[in-house]
Amino acid sequence: MPDVDTSKEEKKFYEDVPMKTPGFFLKGSGSLDWGMKNRLARIFNPRSGRTVMLAIDHGYFQGPTTGLERIDLNIVPLVPYADALMLTRGILRTTIPPASTKPIVVRASGGPSILKELSNEEIALDIEDAIRMNASAMAIQVFIGGEFETRSVHNMTRLVDMGLRYGIPVMAVTAVGKEMVRDAKYFRLACRICAELGAHFVKTYYVPEGFETVTASCPVPIVMAGGKKIEVLDALKMASNAIQRGASGVDMGRNIFQSENPVAMIKAIGAVVHKNLSPDKAYEMFNDLKK
Ligand code: 5RP
Repeated sequence: MPDVDTSKEEKKFYEDVPMKTPGFFLKGSGSLDWGMKNRLARIFNPRSGRTVMLAIDHGYFQGPTTGLERIDLNIVPLVPYADALMLTRGILRTTIPPASTKPIVVRASGGPSILKELSNEEIALDIEDAIRMNASAMAIQVFIGGEFETRSVHNMTRLVDMGLRYGIPVMAVTAVGKEMVRDAKYFRLACRICAELGAHFVKTYYVPEGFETVTASCPVPIVMAGGKKIEVLDALKMASNAIQRGASGVDMGRNIFQSENPVAMIKAIGAVVHKNLSPDKAYEMFNDLKK
């Protein structure tokens, strides 16, 4: 068994030296096939290299989440403002108009509800169905340190193998158990494992201390997960900090759809992500749009 990393040397992440991206605008994606790159270029805007994904897949384990009770009424009007939608195939087929050309990141794992151990997931989607739905990527949870860590990692690697066969990228979502410490050390570990084992991009949480080391040590793009609803200005600051520290976008849910004005919020987040607008200016923008 290999030794764990016990070196006393300080780790060097070279946070201020961006990784070169020969062959394609996205980190670590230059050697992918054309179809894979084309799908990634639907999700990530090639001009900014970034994305604002709208996450509305919460129902796959927690049912009708606040703000998602009626996706037809609350979410469909928001779709034009997102760069991509992250959702389940059930909501896609029942509720999202097929005439929408928004790129789809389809939830590909599931199993336990909030009443059970969440890390006990399985792959819950056939690759053929992802192709049928014209998915631009598939999303799967990875529970590093969780009770069913190995199963969730193998779910991801099997999905990556299927995705590679047909040119559909996989987004690994680093899911954190309630009892686990959410710090840069944990997210460096989780994100790096996902990338090493084949994820094409990784969704992870922002941490105020050392987030730049999480992005620097992950050789594929990272998108920031939103987390529970916080004050508008705080959410804008979090998104801005994540972007300035190396994230390639956000995949936010509750801070957008639980906002008092979801359209204003997603537009303000978009300006932070794609135009580097400062959080204060984006907050002004939010308030103006709200009027
Ligand atoms: C579940 C997910 C969700 O899509 C995502 O984390 C929810 O978004 P938010 O936290 O911003 O409401 O991946 O684990």
